[in-house]
Amino acid sequence: MKRGFLSHDHSDKLFEQIYDYILERIVRGEWKEHEKLPSVRTLALEFNVHRLTVFKAYQLLKQNQKVYVKDKSGYYVQPGSSLPVEARQDPIITAYVQDSHLSEIHQVQATYQFSKALLEPNLLPNLYFSEYVKKVFDLYPKVLGTYSTTQGDLELREALCHYFVHRFRFYLSAEEMLITAGSQEAIDLTARVLIKPRDVVLLERPTYSPAIDVFRRQGATILPVEITENGYDLEQIEKLMQIHKPRLFYLNPTFHNPTGYTVPTEQRKRLVELAAHYHCLLMEDDSYRDMYFGEEPPLPLFSYDTSGVVVYIRSFSKYIAPGLSIASVSCREPIMKLLLRAKSLSDSGTPFLNQKIFLHYFFSERMQQHLEKLRIALSVRKELMEDEMRATDWQWSSPAGGFNLWVKLPATIGMERLLGQCKEKSITFVPGSICDPQRELKSWIRLSYSYMSEQQLREGIRQLIRVYDAEKERSRKR
Ligand SMILES: Cc1ncc(COP(=O)(O)O)c(C=O)c1O
Repeated sequence: MKRGFLSHDHSDKLFEQIYDYILERIVRGEWKEHEKLPSVRTLALEFNVHRLTVFKAYQLLKQNQKVYVKDKSGYYVQPGSSLPVEARQDPIITAYVQDSHLSEIHQVQATYQFSKALLEPNLLPNLYFSEYVKKVFDLYPKVLGTYSTTQGDLELREALCHYFVHRFRFYLSAEEMLITAGSQEAIDLTARVLIKPRDVVLLERPTYSPAIDVFRRQGATILPVEITENGYDLEQIEKLMQIHKPRLFYLNPTFHNPTGYTVPTEQRKRLVELAAHYHCLLMEDDSYRDMYFGEEPPLPLFSYDTSGVVVYIRSFSKYIAPGLSIASVSCREPIMKLLLRAKSLSDSGTPFLNQKIFLHYFFSERMQQHLEKLRIALSVRKELMEDEMRATDWQWSSPAGGFNLWVKLPATIGMERLLGQCKEKSITFVPGSICDPQRELKSWIRLSYSYMSEQQLREGIRQLIRVYDAEKERSRKR
């Protein structure tokens, strides 16, 4: 699009054309980080549009963290909005490669990994695992010579449907299920097929960090929804749906990552009603369901959905077998069709061998009994960590399941410095800001109690508290 050459046929979309014009130049690096952008007045004159139209485009760019405002001075380019320099110089790389903030933290090698929301490998029944592998090769001798179908192994889909129907009262058939390589792939595929640039997406605040990265890459306009120990403020959600007409709400309502909160049953039912009324899809990410410490959690939102607004993503990697990376997506036909098309472009189906091993391993009596042992082992670790933390001035609420504690530290502590000091002592954690769509929540951290042995956990948390105490003393003296 050339300046002064807007398509006026769709005058209600003028601001979007201006938005795209500005964004394109920022992404390509023509307008550099912290550079002052043309004023509203200048662009309005050049494009021959009302100033409010340009203002609207700038407001959306600001909301999407592409520009920032300096009082009385104007709009400036937000750092991190352009393509990396290597990509700009390489004619082959023309797309914006989105950062993955969590995976950057996971790449740090550390002895005490409070950053990994994953089960300690020793807690899995590893010794028996080879039995299932052998069984699969005996039952399906050609398994290595076969691709899965794009949708996933029918035997596995039928077994999972049967399981969901009986345990969670789902109304579901095998045609309405897709097997993916983990729920990360499921989130990514669903976002690719459902979200266009500028679509409004609701995200919990805080939320699972890579989901923020995925929706940002899609160019979505992200609006935060607060999640608390008591769930959501449904009036706030209804208002957001009324005013902004979001395309989708990505949520993790059961032992939520990072807070551990669980949304109560009544709110689940009402949310599904609201979503149906306002035509907002609900992407329900259910990655921690079996890891409860007391009562079983409420039924998934999918159980209450009669109008096809819920896309139910269920991961089995977190506590069954991360090495197999199996997840399922359940949804109605129109969305399933789109997902199948997208999946067929990205691979030739989730690895067949993994699906077959998972099928025999997950539905075995041994694994189902093992889940009970895992729940106990995890709750012991959680309590151990909480006991060690009781003498600190940290605040958290004890979760009834999941892998994480969401902890608030005093605002005087510099989080970046604390993380730097911890890394030097071979300790990692997840800073709260990367779980926040607004990149605030700077006093919060996510500590996972799932990945270390009890002894390592105790030693690690003591060391972390020591580093914290030293930082606190330092900030007091300043
Ligand atoms: C809420 C949530 N969703 C999705 C994932 C990704 O899981 P998977 O290993 O199945 O891709 C995670 C992993 O930490 C998670 O916590």
